[in-house]
Amino acid sequence: MAGGELTILATAEAHCNRASGPFFTAVTEVAAPRRLLRPGRRAGLLDQPCASLVARPGSALYQRLDSLCARALHGREPIYYFLYYRHPMNVLGIETSCDETGVAVYSSERGLLAHMLHSQVALHAEYGGVVPEIASRDHLRRLLPLIEKVLEEAGIERPDAIAHTAGPGLVGALMVGGGMAAGLGLAWDCPVIAVHHMEGHLLAPLLEDEAPEYPFLALLVSGGHSMLIDVRGLGRYELMGTTLDDAVGEAFDKTAKLLGLGYPGGPALAALAEEGDEQAFEFPRPMLGKPGYDFSFSGLKTAVMLEVRRAEADGTIDARRADVAASFQRAAIDALVGRALRAAADRDLERIVVAGGVGANKLLRAEIARRFDGRVYYPRLQFCTDNGAMIAVAGALRLAEAEPAGSIRATARWSLESLSAPSGR
Ligand code: KG4
Ligand code: ZN
Repeated sequence: MAGGELTILATAEAHCNRASGPFFTAVTEVAAPRRLLRPGRRAGLLDQPCASLVARPGSALYQRLDSLCARALHGREPIYYFLYYRHPMNVLGIETSCDETGVAVYSSERGLLAHMLHSQVALHAEYGGVVPEIASRDHLRRLLPLIEKVLEEAGIERPDAIAHTAGPGLVGALMVGGGMAAGLGLAWDCPVIAVHHMEGHLLAPLLEDEAPEYPFLALLVSGGHSMLIDVRGLGRYELMGTTLDDAVGEAFDKTAKLLGLGYPGGPALAALAEEGDEQAFEFPRPMLGKPGYDFSFSGLKTAVMLEVRRAEADGTIDARRADVAASFQRAAIDALVGRALRAAADRDLERIVVAGGVGANKLLRAEIARRFDGRVYYPRLQFCTDNGAMIAVAGALRLAEAEPAGSIRATARWSLESLSAPSGR
């Protein structure tokens, strides 16, 4: 059987649905024993734009296609459908990887329609860090009411697709979001797509009116990661550098804790730094002058700790807290900016995207703007930290490029580089 015959069937189906409103295109894949179209390979008329569709196993549409194709194959070979989800579509985004329950609806036509966040910071504060079990339980409690509110605000009854963070993160917390997404996907008969948390962060600037074009350098700086990524397109990521020890947000949080600023200390430390003298202490500039693009913050952390202990011992700590904060912040930001600029220059990249929680840092923003010749893009402040909107937009982009919907996924450790471009490409 030639691949073309199946293509014609799929195209015929697309035509007959076009008359009745939203229409779809399907590419078929023969799983066993061999060939025809590989998943996502486009052929002829299948490149035409098509609207969102739902053809889940068991649905009438699925069965119709199934019998058409089975007939075409004389019933000899099993067939799986690989479907293109195209504009326009409303995607519900669910983020539950850590201590924020984030929910949003992103429309591929109209942009962000609604977003809400419930922060668990107060719940974890007394423990000085995130307690995974408490996080999972709170996500479970908050998620559904938040989804209901967001859908209401977006003015839709149900989305066309659901995107959820599948990792990296706390596996129990991820399971809550993934399980909810899978359940709602079944109830609403809509596709569910697993999104990489860090891809969400690096695509967050695409929520803004002035979105960056590819290629760009992404500086991803959060509580769990410090990464420099050469971004060539959706899913085409080359990790240039990463942290060898603590993430930069973690370094901010630990320093803040040392200074008695509570959890999470990054924003509090940055605020205190504004009152201090950044030249008061000569802290080491991590990795400065070393080749490569990796980061390391443990030396800086130790230097700060020694200085704080000294100041505590001689009773000057209260007077010096702001100076320590300012000097630490300066050293950490110099390290980030220095390496990001070198990476951008080495790769001839004219755009830098700064994303992740530490991307909210004012000094980082000011320094990169001052020292970089090209353009810098940020998500708005509330989308620098964890949120549902970045997951919704990442899901919408992947679905628009023929990413197949999957089953429940929750992956605690997941390298960003293992992603590939959506399989429709
Ligand atoms: O992206 P995010 O919300 O969560 C993770 O995926 O980790 O990032 C949270 C991190 C925390 O370490 C927090 O202290 C840090 O971002 N952070 C900041 C600032 N705002 C948040 N660090 C420095 N300056 C800030 N203004
Ligand atoms: Zn994050």
